[in-house]
Amino acid sequence: MEDSMPEPPFEFLSRKPYMPPLWATHLNPIPSHIFSLGHFPTPIHKWNLPNLPKGTEVYIKRDDLSGMQLSGNKVRKLEFLLAEAVAQGADCIITIGGIQSNHCRATAVAAKYLNLGCYLILFTSEKLVDKDPGLTGNLLVERLVGAHVDLISKEEYASIGGVALTNILKERLLSEGRKPYVIPGGGSNSLGTWGYVEAVREIQEQLGKGSGGITFDDIVAACGSGGTIAGLALGTWLSGSATKVHAYCVSDDPNYFYDHVEGLTDGLQAVVSSRDIVNIQNAKGLGYAINTTEELTFMQEIAKATGVVLDPVYSGKAAYGMMRDMAENPRKWEGRKVLFVHTGGLLGLYEKTEQIVPLVGNWRRMDIQASIPRQVGTGKVSRNFYRPM
Ligand SMILES: Cc1ncc(COP(=O)(O)O)c(C=O)c1O
Repeated sequence: MEDSMPEPPFEFLSRKPYMPPLWATHLNPIPSHIFSLGHFPTPIHKWNLPNLPKGTEVYIKRDDLSGMQLSGNKVRKLEFLLAEAVAQGADCIITIGGIQSNHCRATAVAAKYLNLGCYLILFTSEKLVDKDPGLTGNLLVERLVGAHVDLISKEEYASIGGVALTNILKERLLSEGRKPYVIPGGGSNSLGTWGYVEAVREIQEQLGKGSGGITFDDIVAACGSGGTIAGLALGTWLSGSATKVHAYCVSDDPNYFYDHVEGLTDGLQAVVSSRDIVNIQNAKGLGYAINTTEELTFMQEIAKATGVVLDPVYSGKAAYGMMRDMAENPRKWEGRKVLFVHTGGLLGLYEKTEQIVPLVGNWRRMDIQASIPRQVGTGKVSRNFYRPM
């Protein structure tokens, strides 16, 4: 009945029936609906990174431009997850993540767009768990849109686990007569995996349209909870593409993620071993969300050289890992066309400003003589601006 309702006047924030790509129609279950939450397709452009191996070309898919407050890779997963939440009659969303979780921020904004309540469980260090979490980065947006924030310590998160913690909150809300819908950390379950299966279709459509016949030999992305690379790897494999998918994990370790990705694709009844469809390398460095000065310096140099600002927790570490691999194994990458997926997360940079301050410079008091007379501008554009007729 719902599908015979009149088309909404604007596509953004509308919910519509979902049709998978032809090569994915045998997956099971197939989501019935999708919400339009992001600005897609996100652009792809050449990324002129310095010091590439001979003949290597790197392109970048700007999923960081999929929105503003609601941006990055999480939007693609939320398009499916929130469609299910609404179909189930939910009146609020529960999810969980680290204190600067981009996923939690994106979920809070998307929930509010759809007039749903939002409950976030955020883990932080033991010494900060009883204090006001402040307004840095993602927290500013979450608190402005009125998400409820429950803090727990990292130790509690590690010992109790995300499933039990979200269940506690769910039971509490149910007893108050609410209808909560739980999204796992990072939005990474089998339903969320469709987000990057769809991204593969999007990339293929972009390549089909006036891209000068480019095909990518490799796709590279960061891996934090596994859903992004699961979707990329599954979509690439199912579509019969020869492109290799590489993941750089920023938490846990590659073995953990091989199992986790396989769990996500098993949940869609795809019969494939994760090791056959994705190559996962470690880019965790000092630990999840902890940066070395070398990593931040690398990000600063890339920003300065190319204008592309990476985030410190995910795409920054993934690009650092990729460039290190290119330097150590140039033969592996020589002559290849690589697509790096920028998965967003720029608000996470605000938590790193103290570490970044010594890396950036170039400000000065402007040197002006006190005797310069004031001139009043008219605000009109100079005649010379226009091309002569
Ligand atoms: C900005 C950003 N990039 C990449 C990732 C990793 O994606 P996934 O959780 O799907 O592995 C995340 C979240 O974990 C993220 O917030």
